[in-house]
Amino acid sequence: MSSLILEGFMGSGKSTVAARLSEKLGLPLIDTDAEIERRAGKTISAIFAEEGEEAFRDMETECLKQIRRLQEKEPGDRVISLGGGMPVREENRALLKEIGTVIYLKAEPELLIRRLEKETGSRPMLSGKDLAERVHSLLGEREEAYREAADVVILLEEGEDVAERIRKELRR
Ligand code: S3P
Repeated sequence: MSSLILEGFMGSGKSTVAARLSEKLGLPLIDTDAEIERRAGKTISAIFAEEGEEAFRDMETECLKQIRRLQEKEPGDRVISLGGGMPVREENRALLKEIGTVIYLKAEPELLIRRLEKETGSRPMLSGKDLAERVHSLLGEREEAYREAADVVILLEEGEDVAERIRKELRR
């Protein structure tokens, strides 16, 4: 049918929901952040600190190209969780369309801020700045890219079973 790709801002729960979806549907899971860390042999924080954001963004594009190649070589559906900034590059949005169905986990900024307050340490895009201000401005910059990339938008509500909702909405 089609691979399921989860996009959304940091803290929207992409990785958790993707892991649950992959379990429910019995499909292999790919997490682009984890893939990039594995290939680089270092954490995302270390990549940002040592090589800079642009180098990380290039690694993201390369990661999507490798996923596309993998799909050509070994066809079959997968569940793919993206880093929060992945859909910003137009080239990445075009690659995503070739790879599968993009599901945008859309959340109110307040919900994201509440979740991110507990764990900003590991996210270079949020470090050292006023968290609420940063979330509002970055989300404002990215919203259009998320919407452009999305085939399906899921407006998140706290406490719901998001993986189950996606499964039902996509009849999988
Ligand atoms: C980023 C989000 C992170 C990770 C990197 C950059 C971003 O992924 O890719 O720190 O620019 O929004 P998560 O959305 O999984 O936190």
